[in-house]
Amino acid sequence: MYPVILSGWPREFDRGYDVMMNTQKNIINVTFVQPDGREETYQGPIGDHVMDVAVDNGVAGIIGQCGGGCTCCTCHVWVDSGWQDRVKPAHSDETELLSYAIGVCARSRLACQVRLTEDLDGLVVEIPSEAE
Ligand code: FES
Repeated sequence: MYPVILSGWPREFDRGYDVMMNTQKNIINVTFVQPDGREETYQGPIGDHVMDVAVDNGVAGIIGQCGGGCTCCTCHVWVDSGWQDRVKPAHSDETELLSYAIGVCARSRLACQVRLTEDLDGLVVEIPSEAE
């Protein structure tokens, strides 16, 4: 169990551990679609999360304020409908927190809870508009 009371290092430790344990060192692509339709595609290592890719690359609209602790909702995205079947379902904590997000729909996820896996290479997520 990680000492989640401390902020900062546990998440980085988690990321480092995941990358270290990934002997294949695979990198996958994730495309972020802004509310105006502009698309940005970035790469991230398997084991990281969609939020990590967004924050590492400064994707507008994804803040990740709690560092992936599933407590802030600032990483809310809509998974492209063509990818929904390949993304693992949200756990109960994520579903509960999403109920507080603006613009929630059936495709809503917290990007910090979507782990990058090999079969998600090319994943497309939309950034909800604040007006939604
Ligand atoms: S980064 Fe806070 S809930 Fe995802």
